[in-house]
Formats: sequence, structure tokens, C-alpha cells
Amino acid sequence: MPGKRAMPAMKVCIVGASGKLGRYMVRHALARGYRVVGVCRARSVGKLDEFKGRIEIVPGATNDRDVIRRAVAGCDGVLTVLFPWGRHHYSTGTAQAVLDFARPGARLVFSCGWHITRDGQDVYPPSLKTEERVARWITRIVPFVDIDDQIEACRRVFASDTRWTVVRGSDLEEGESEGLPVWSRHVGDPVLTSNRTRRVDFALFMVEALTHDELVHESPAIVGCRTSSALAHAGGMAPQGIAPRAHRG
Ligand SMILES: NC(=O)c1ccc[n+]([C@@H]2O[C@H](COP(=O)([O-])OP(=O)(O)OC[C@H]3O[C@@H](n4cnc5c(N)ncnc54)[C@H](OP(=O)(O)O)[C@@H]3O)[C@@H](O)[C@H]2O)c1
Repeated sequence: MPGKRAMPAMKVCIVGASGKLGRYMVRHALARGYRVVGVCRARSVGKLDEFKGRIEIVPGATNDRDVIRRAVAGCDGVLTVLFPWGRHHYSTGTAQAVLDFARPGARLVFSCGWHITRDGQDVYPPSLKTEERVARWITRIVPFVDIDDQIEACRRVFASDTRWTVVRGSDLEEGESEGLPVWSRHVGDPVLTSNRTRRVDFALFMVEALTHDELVHESPAIVGCRTSSALAHAGGMAPQGIAPRAHRG
């Protein structure tokens, strides 16, 4: 309409853009017409070649406060891949920098797994508890990941007064998109029993969360919308939309 100015496109920062989840998020964000700033380690910049000229890249460690300060400047949303690498507080450093430097009011969406619990009300299947025990045992010997650091990173996010969402992924698999995952507030909800999500759809949920205020201060546990447990819950129809499919409180 003459005289009417188009709204500027949303600007989003993707922290951990070169990883598998990160690259899917870049694709979803560009498909929505968003302006994208990606943060990744300098050695991984080449993994973003397919987006050359379409995204801005800030190379550096994601827990480098100066890197994050520059990358999130002017962004309306920040999508952060929280990964518990090494023994140097990588997750907490990354999360804290995003919390400290994102502009007030920006939408902050963080990724993690079902093992993160916000209120202790999650009920985990025995297989998942065993997996965590084994992972902790292995990483005591070979300390390549620090699960407790990711737990602490999420605790800081939950305690912050920013506009956060912490998306908790089930076990992941590759493959074509099946659509937006289904979510519940608590692991243990029967809708989540299948414990499978396509990684591309995890990314879709992260990007979708940017524009859903009903997800502010939620930590949705997600599962693929075409898994048997999601379909059973929806009476055999693939569920649609971001509304939670079930609550256990
Ligand atoms: N894998 C699963 O089954 C699973 C299940 C549930 C939830 N999740 C969650 O999903 C998210 C993505 O996980 P993903 O498994 O799919 O992996 P991913 O997307 O490939 O992400 C791994 C990230 O870690 C970075 N990285 C790799 N080695 C590193 C190092 N030595 N030091 C610092 N950074 C390093 C990668 O950056 P480079 O590109 O620079 O290597 C990349 O950004 C995480 O939040 C995870 O907690 C995963």
C-alpha cells in the first residue's frame, strides 16, 4: 500500500551455527526472511559456505564474551546451541554471555536435552537414567563433556528475567522434516514416549519459538509429531501448531 513502510526483517543471532542443529536453524531462519548472524569457531567457518553472502559470520569460541557481545548487538532474537564441551565451563560461559549481552526484551531460545529439568517434576525412563550414569562414568575418565556445566547453564537461564525458552530435545535422528514437534512440560508424559525427533524439526521448533510468546519461560520437552506416541495422543492425526499436547501439571 502506498505510504506504508515494510517492517524490517527480524535479526537473529545463531550461536553454534556451524553444527548440525545450527545449520538447520540457519536454513529455517533464512527461509523466513530473517537476517542472520552466525557464531562459530574460526576453524568451522567453512561449514557455513553454503550460506556465503546471505549471513554475517562472527568467528570465535561461543563462550568468548567479546565475540558474543559483538554478535548479538541489535538482534531481536538469539538461538543458542548449548553443548557441554570439555571441562572449561563452555556451556555456562556461552549462556551467561548471551544473558548478559542480548538486548533487553530480545527472545532467547536455548537448546539442550531431556536430561535438563526445571522443576524436578520430570519422570525419566530407566533407559535414560542408565544412559546418563554411563555418560558420567565415561566422562570422568575422558573429560570431553561436562553434563553438570550444561545443567548449571540452564539453571542460570531459568533464574534470569530475560525472555527465555529452553527447548529440550529427545534422542535425535536425521531425515526429512515431519513438521513441528509436539511438546510437553514434563518428561514422563505419555505423548513423549517415542523419544525421537528429526534434528531438522528440533531446529524448526527453536526458530518457531522466537515468535511464540506463549513459550516464554517454558522448557518444552519435544518429540516428533509423527512418532507413534505423538500420533496416539492426537487420535492418529499428525498434530499441528505449537500448543502443548499434554500437561502433567
Ligand atoms: N545428539 C543428540 O542425540 C541430542 C539429543 C538431545 C538433545 N541434544 C541437544 O541438541 C543440541 C545440538 O546437539 P547435536 O548433537 O545435534 O550437535 P551439533 O548440532 O552438531 O552441535 C555441536 C556443537 O558443538 C560444537 N563443538 C564441537 N566440538 C567442539 C569443541 N571441542 N569445543 C567447542 N565446541 C565444539 C560444534 O561446533 P563446530 O561446528 O565448530 O564443531 C557445534 O556448534 C545440543 O544442545 C544438545 O544438548 C542432542
